[in-house]
Amino acid sequence: MSDLDNKSIPAHIAVIMDGNGRWAKQHALGRIAGHKKGVEAVRETVTACRELGVRYLTLYAFSSENWDRPAREVKSLMGLLEKFLKMELKTMLDRDIRLLAIGNCGTLPENVLKTLNEVISKTQGNSAMTLILALSYGGRDEILEAVRKIAREAAEGKIDPGDLNKEAFSDYLYTEGIPDPDLLIRTSGEHRISNFLLWQTAYTEFYFTDVLWPDFRKKDLIAAIRDYQGRERRFGKTSDQLLGDIP
Ligand code: FPP
Repeated sequence: MSDLDNKSIPAHIAVIMDGNGRWAKQHALGRIAGHKKGVEAVRETVTACRELGVRYLTLYAFSSENWDRPAREVKSLMGLLEKFLKMELKTMLDRDIRLLAIGNCGTLPENVLKTLNEVISKTQGNSAMTLILALSYGGRDEILEAVRKIAREAAEGKIDPGDLNKEAFSDYLYTEGIPDPDLLIRTSGEHRISNFLLWQTAYTEFYFTDVLWPDFRKKDLIAAIRDYQGRERRFGKTSDQLLGDIP
């Protein structure tokens, strides 16, 4: 199937799906056609990750800043999201995929939120792979919300701020219980984090490709994982320490 080392498939891949608008422009189409085509790439990526044994896949589907796009585009994206959730429920159930969402989901339109919660609830017992949709998501908002909650709990005497450590802080984030991404892929040639998983990507390997998201296919995913497998993840240590030569 591929030349990948099956023993070091990243457990968690996060993707900034970028370039739908430019893809549409290249094909003399409107931006919404680019997003529609982007859904095909979403489907293929979910299937490929499941086949390759990726345990967690997080897709940046709608940022907290995306609300500022033209109303027509926001409406279309919400429509595409709802349609995707309805259409893919069967696949998620058949393929043992659990759905989760991270972000300020309360701001989503009522019908989208209802469908989202239904799919989350119907797939909650699945365990082969977790698909996490970042919706109305902003990394700074996520950290701020965590800090507010911690401050409230400290003021109420429920926690001692002195006891707080990195692990405990992580439990206040939307991603509570989800391991940090091993690999982050951004398409379309942009080299930015764009307010995505700011806390969680401290030691994530980044992979940038010029491929526009609607063109992203399994071969591109494999190329990203192959590149990842060639990296040395040192987590602040030296190469010699990793080799066990030096404690
Ligand atoms: C970025 O491209 C993409 C988005 C803001 C939305 C991503 C949404 C999808 C792929 C489809 C719906 C998602 C799901 C999960 C069903 P851009 O519009 O910023 O592209 P540009 O930078 O070329 O203009």
